[in-house]
Amino acid sequence: MAIMRLDKFFSSQGIATRREVKKLMDAKAIYVNGEPAHKLDQKIDPQTDEILLRGKRVEYREHLYLMLNKPQGVVSATTDRDCPTVLDLVPPELFRPGLFPAGRLDKDTTGFVLITDDGDFAHRMLAPKSHVPKVYQARINVRFTETQIRQFAEGVVLKDGFVCLPAELKILEDSDQPLVEITLHEGKYHQIKRMVAASGGKVLALHRVKLGGLPLDPNLAPGAMREILHKELVQILGE
Ligand code: URA
Repeated sequence: MAIMRLDKFFSSQGIATRREVKKLMDAKAIYVNGEPAHKLDQKIDPQTDEILLRGKRVEYREHLYLMLNKPQGVVSATTDRDCPTVLDLVPPELFRPGLFPAGRLDKDTTGFVLITDDGDFAHRMLAPKSHVPKVYQARINVRFTETQIRQFAEGVVLKDGFVCLPAELKILEDSDQPLVEITLHEGKYHQIKRMVAASGGKVLALHRVKLGGLPLDPNLAPGAMREILHKELVQILGE
């Protein structure tokens, strides 16, 4: 890890802006390797130097990975003129510059959205060659037969002629409005809604439950998020 300025260290972790770091230094609240810090541009090595803020060690994390249970009505973007975005849901203690949603869910879709500031990870997770499956539960308005299940397994042909990759479809609850689980191996715009429409049905509600091998934490209420642990990241990529 590169050597960096002390003010950059604090801002990159979302802890304090430059101006706040100056105030904290003036109040002797920041120590570097046992010495009170007094220069914003002091060079530090975030891996090896001991940085204390009000007596507590600040652990450096190069990147942050968050698991959000997205509620309805929130857009998977960094900014939006009309609607709240997934970034508006990040609590101040987890916020840091550079966060963005890695992949999108529709505004009315709920469930697992990964938010990170690690562009390389997002790219790997979303690249088709990484084969990270995405699992959804959908409430639909028709009973699918074996024929439709087979069509999903072979590759649904959308109304515009696009041939989808094979996807798995399982019926979780059989009723007039069945609950199905669909596993996708690609991520096209409105993909599940369009696949279900091509099979003669309509999606009434859609929820993403899993990314790669990592399920959405059932303890996360809609709108809540938590950090993703390192071992869970490995589960996403299936390495
Ligand atoms: N497929 C959809 O149609 N919408 C989503 O949000 C995700 C997958």
